[in-house]
Amino acid sequence: MSALSVRSFASFTLPVGLLASLVVGPAQAQPPRLDVPYVPTPEPVVAHMLQLAEIGPDDYVIDLGSGDGRIAISAVQDYGARAAYGIDLDPERISEAQENAEREGVADKVTFEQGDLFQKDISEADVLTMYLLSTVNMRLRPVILDTLKPGTRVVSHAFNLGDWEPDQSDVINGSSVFLWIVPAKVAGQWTLELDGRNHQVELDQRFQKVVGKVDGQPDVLSGQLKGNELRFTFDDRLYVGQLNGDRIEAVPADGAQQGWVARRS
Ligand SMILES: C[S@@+](CC[C@H](N)C(=O)[O-])C[C@H]1O[C@@H](n2cnc3c(N)ncnc32)[C@H](O)[C@@H]1O
Repeated sequence: MSALSVRSFASFTLPVGLLASLVVGPAQAQPPRLDVPYVPTPEPVVAHMLQLAEIGPDDYVIDLGSGDGRIAISAVQDYGARAAYGIDLDPERISEAQENAEREGVADKVTFEQGDLFQKDISEADVLTMYLLSTVNMRLRPVILDTLKPGTRVVSHAFNLGDWEPDQSDVINGSSVFLWIVPAKVAGQWTLELDGRNHQVELDQRFQKVVGKVDGQPDVLSGQLKGNELRFTFDDRLYVGQLNGDRIEAVPADGAQQGWVARRS
């Protein structure tokens, strides 16, 4: 067959992909472009991450970039999480994680999905785990702050979240582990009803840290959020309150003032 007749046959009867495979062999699947290379978290560090998150039977755990599935599997198997989910861009990691979950007998409670962690809706997580990179953590930070429920625990192996200071951090076998508790949003104007008087309070918030102006006096209130719980001092007294909608109500705590309430104004 002449060169012309080959070209004519190919261009009119064969799809381009098939033609290419006849000429240069089967197309190679492109490896996914990972934002983070695969490096598994050592088992003692996994254990510490999950202990730091204080996982319990109500918790739904999401591991972003789940590798061989060890964090999600252990969350269910060793710490009694209600369910766990892992997402990884690399299909090989997903097959491996699914096999591991089957072998460990937790496949009914642990799900792995191939996909891009930046596309995943993580708002249902009670606990979010990560072993990624600083740059990836920083891209995730606004998503964590704006979409996760107050009180969600975020645990990261090795990499922090920039100037959002962790609520706790530890070093295990030379590896850093960080815990953050997603703070509620309390910035703005409040009326604090205290000892039969109303005070006008303006709260500023930077992550979990809160400072406040009371009746025009700047920085006389300072405190910290742990999820929906706000603990602050004002006038040398301790206040511990729980945010509920547009109210913060006093809750019993050692040495804390009782009988006060703050309402958004
Ligand atoms: C450092 S490993 C951590 C694995 C596991 N979480 C652990 O701690 O053992 C990072 C994982 O993220 C995955 N990954 C990288 N970029 C990703 C992306 N954009 N979306 C989802 N997974 C990604 C990699 O395939 C790799 O398995």
